[in-house]
Amino acid sequence: MKINTGISETHRKKIANGLSKLLADTYTLYLKTHNFHWNVTGPHFKSLHLTFEEQYNELALAVDLIAERIRALGFPAPASYQQFSKLTVLKEETQVPHYQDMIKQLVQDHELVAKTAREIFSISDEAHDEVSNSLLTNRMEIHEKTAWMLRSLLEN
Ligand SMILES: [Fe+2]
Repeated sequence: MKINTGISETHRKKIANGLSKLLADTYTLYLKTHNFHWNVTGPHFKSLHLTFEEQYNELALAVDLIAERIRALGFPAPASYQQFSKLTVLKEETQVPHYQDMIKQLVQDHELVAKTAREIFSISDEAHDEVSNSLLTNRMEIHEKTAWMLRSLLEN
């Protein structure tokens, strides 16, 4: 049955394509944050281990909301590491960096995901897709706030 919610198919497709990139970024950041939760060492082990846990839990909930918005717009959600690695702008970490480098990477990655969300916002806003606008605003707020909190850890 056809979708008839007042957003054209062209717009729905553009928004879903954008959200697929956001999904890939968010999933990649989820995995990296989980990686750092497991592998962090050093004098701040306990607090970083717990901070990263809070963050990957939030990201795990976020990917579900993003994927389900793609579905509501009428398109399949990408859901494989192969697709995600093609769609994301984030770089995976395969080594075990120093804990300060872990924090730096996460700051930069949260900022990149906020940028991806902001790029899609211009498309969803043009289409008067307030539901996607709201999701994107929420994601930008969380990524900017998390980047601030992580950046604060790097200050003396
Ligand atoms: Fe754990």
